Amino acid sequence: MKFKAPRGTYDVLPEDSPVWQYIEKTARETFALYNYREIRTPIFESTELFARSIGSTTDIVTKEMYTFLDKKGRSLTLRPEETAPVVRACLENNLISPDKVTKLYYIGPMFRYERPQAGRFRQFSQIGVEAFGSADPALDVEVMTLAVRLFEKLGLKGLEVNVNSVGCSKCRPAFLEELKKYFRSEIGRMCGECGKRLEFNPLRILDCKNEACQGLILKAPAPLDFACADCRRSFEDAMKFLERAKIKCRINDRLVRGLDYYTGLTFEVVSKKLGAQNAVCGGGRYNDLVSDLGGKAVPAVGFALGVERAIDVLKSSNVSVPEAKLDAFVITIGEEAGELGVRISEDLRACGLSADLDFFEKGVKAKMKAADRSGARFAVIVGGEEIKKKSATLKNMKDGSQKEVKLSELVKEIKRK
Ligand code: HAM
Repeated sequence: MKFKAPRGTYDVLPEDSPVWQYIEKTARETFALYNYREIRTPIFESTELFARSIGSTTDIVTKEMYTFLDKKGRSLTLRPEETAPVVRACLENNLISPDKVTKLYYIGPMFRYERPQAGRFRQFSQIGVEAFGSADPALDVEVMTLAVRLFEKLGLKGLEVNVNSVGCSKCRPAFLEELKKYFRSEIGRMCGECGKRLEFNPLRILDCKNEACQGLILKAPAPLDFACADCRRSFEDAMKFLERAKIKCRINDRLVRGLDYYTGLTFEVVSKKLGAQNAVCGGGRYNDLVSDLGGKAVPAVGFALGVERAIDVLKSSNVSVPEAKLDAFVITIGEEAGELGVRISEDLRACGLSADLDFFEKGVKAKMKAADRSGARFAVIVGGEEIKKKSATLKNMKDGSQKEVKLSELVKEIKRK
């Protein structure tokens, strides 16, 4: 019987891993420049944490969670996202308070039971940041700038930043009422799903892709038109800051996020190069989540990007990812040289040069082929003659040139080249 990776999952093979390492390394370096520190939380959490934070009527909570009972009957869920676990960890470990800014980042796998398609997986990877402690729009702008700078550094092209404000606990109820009123009169022309959303989560209707609903959505009331003075001021300040920072944004008053915890500014970075799943990154303010999960009122803002989608954009932007090359492949001829080959490899590694060697007893030709296949910059060849002279033949694999080098000079010679 042959086993396959579960539906909606995949393996990152050795030839694919350089691009993952490139993205993760660039993200870590960028986050450090903005003083964000890494947090790692468990892969699973209590189911209640996600239901309370993401929203019990969202698609994620009602349809997409990998939930199971452990042996003691506790309901646990593989994390579908990382904002709620980070808030939980911050509260449990006293990392946040209303009088200081705490900046955190994470990198890791998330799980959603969605219908797999291009850019949509059941296990996918997110890189995200969360900043706690200040309601200043300057922090929203920092978080958005950070996302844009990271994409620029990675070399991603053709991206567009969409922004909206979804309102806060003060102004959202009036907006939702207005939205319900508008859609109620059109219910006969809408899809069945939206009929249900109208009662439980009318904001989600704005995100419906059904053609029949699309025409109605275009004319629906917009949350920004109902924004309270605070939401309006924060949004306008953020837009001014963004303009000064030369971050181009499009106000998209149809933008709603799939999670209920947002308050005020929300944003998504979308790519024209991706298909239906075109959001590379999404985020926004969530000023009530910390208190909803049992903490003091600590405002917060953050985003997460999907690594698989970032890789798709990277490929379509023709970015070539730097790949670490093997420095040396050591070839030994004869039994006596075998031990020396192992020693040479270890000496090279101790000096910071990567080295590999052929472990099979084969002829010189086959060994040279193995060196070629390894992609090494140099082949280091040792046989009886070389042992006597305490030297090695150093072959440049790119131009084929070779010369004899004293073993004591080997590291210097490879590093020099
Ligand atoms: P989200 O929009 O649900 O937000 O996910 C963020 C990103 O994860 C998406 O833009 C997309 O690139 C990627 N993504 C989501 N689902 C999938 C999937 N099934 N397959 C592949 N990629 C996917 C959040 O998760 C929020 N926690 C973001 C946030 C952080 N808001 C504030 N702080």
